Amino acid sequence: MRRIEAVCLCACVPTLHLLSLVPINIADRRIDRCLRPLSPTQYSTMVSKGFLFAAAAVFLSLLASAARAQQLSPSFYATTCTNLESIVSSVMSEVVGRDPRMGASVIRLFFHDCFVNGCDASVLLDDTPTMVGEKNAAGNMNSLRGYEVIDTIKTVVEVSCRATVSCADIIALAARDAVSLLGGPSWAVPMGRRDSRTASMAAANANLPPASDSINSLVAKFAAKGLDLRDLTALSGAHTVGAAKCSSFRPHVYNDANVDPAFAMFRQRVCPKSGGDATLAPLDPTSPNRFDVSFYRDLMARRALLHSDQELYNNGPADELVRLYSYNGGAFNRDFAAAMVKLGNVSPLTGTAGEVRLNCRRAN
Ligand code: HEM
Repeated sequence: MRRIEAVCLCACVPTLHLLSLVPINIADRRIDRCLRPLSPTQYSTMVSKGFLFAAAAVFLSLLASAARAQQLSPSFYATTCTNLESIVSSVMSEVVGRDPRMGASVIRLFFHDCFVNGCDASVLLDDTPTMVGEKNAAGNMNSLRGYEVIDTIKTVVEVSCRATVSCADIIALAARDAVSLLGGPSWAVPMGRRDSRTASMAAANANLPPASDSINSLVAKFAAKGLDLRDLTALSGAHTVGAAKCSSFRPHVYNDANVDPAFAMFRQRVCPKSGGDATLAPLDPTSPNRFDVSFYRDLMARRALLHSDQELYNNGPADELVRLYSYNGGAFNRDFAAAMVKLGNVSPLTGTAGEVRLNCRRAN
């Protein structure tokens, strides 16, 4: 006869709806024990058992949710790939030293990975005969850069730590290093992400915010990823580095009212009304290769390059944060680093989900 301990809501304590551990004999179905009246001693034993059980259940469920939230950890590869961080930082410092804009491109790569079905390196997958991936989605085609930087890091990492480190974690580390190499903050990167086996152009088109977005649309798109107004405003500070194409900023410098006229005219010179779509201009003209707060000062001077950026300072909900970051680099650095960790927590694949790709461009 098999006896198991089961949980039953004990109907014999009608005034106290307590969960109690009651032995139930499944074989002879003696579940009537639950329904018999109890003596005062039995009653108090059961009540204290009930409390104990309820406390244990609450404790276990807290533990389980904490474990879920902590699945990503900065020490994830501490024993399996001890030199991972030094490999990534040495490749990144070489790359950024040669071409500072590439640092910006890698930061953007992380954003575009995490915003489309979570941080799973789906953005790196090449199209296959059966899958149309994200590389040619509207926000990425002829614009997103840095794929070969991740390939280089992955190749070196594979030599030291075969089939161990995901491409998704490499993007997160490389983005952190890019920020600090360009003069911004640094932070511990939680890791343990795994790579997707597939990618989706449709998801990229639906999730990546275009430069034409209003503040309300930006707030809603970030909220859908668990990121609040503070995260949106701080993360947009990444536009303190890098460049945009004429096709991205043309509508702002020709059509918008909330733009400094001298700045608009200056940009129109490199971006004609038609043609010249690929001509670049810096997102932060003051210091395009320096991760600082001048982006926020540009916004306050109505010198944002993109419509979406000027939306952050246009008599709306982000104005106050823009003002704060414009003079308080410490607050910006702190909020930016915290928001990058939050961005890196957007729906990662963990445990046995997905895989650790051997080549970041294709599923194993
Ligand atoms: C808030 C919504 C955002 C919108 C609408 C947006 C839009 C854009 C656009 C249109 C470009 C120029 C692309 C081109 O013309 O080729 C760009 C560049 C860039 N974005 Fe964003 N972006 C947003 C948020 C972010 C975030 C959250 C990050 C990183 C945390 C980021 C990092 C960058 C960087 C670094 C560049 C320059 C890349 C380079 O020079 O290669 N962006 N973004």
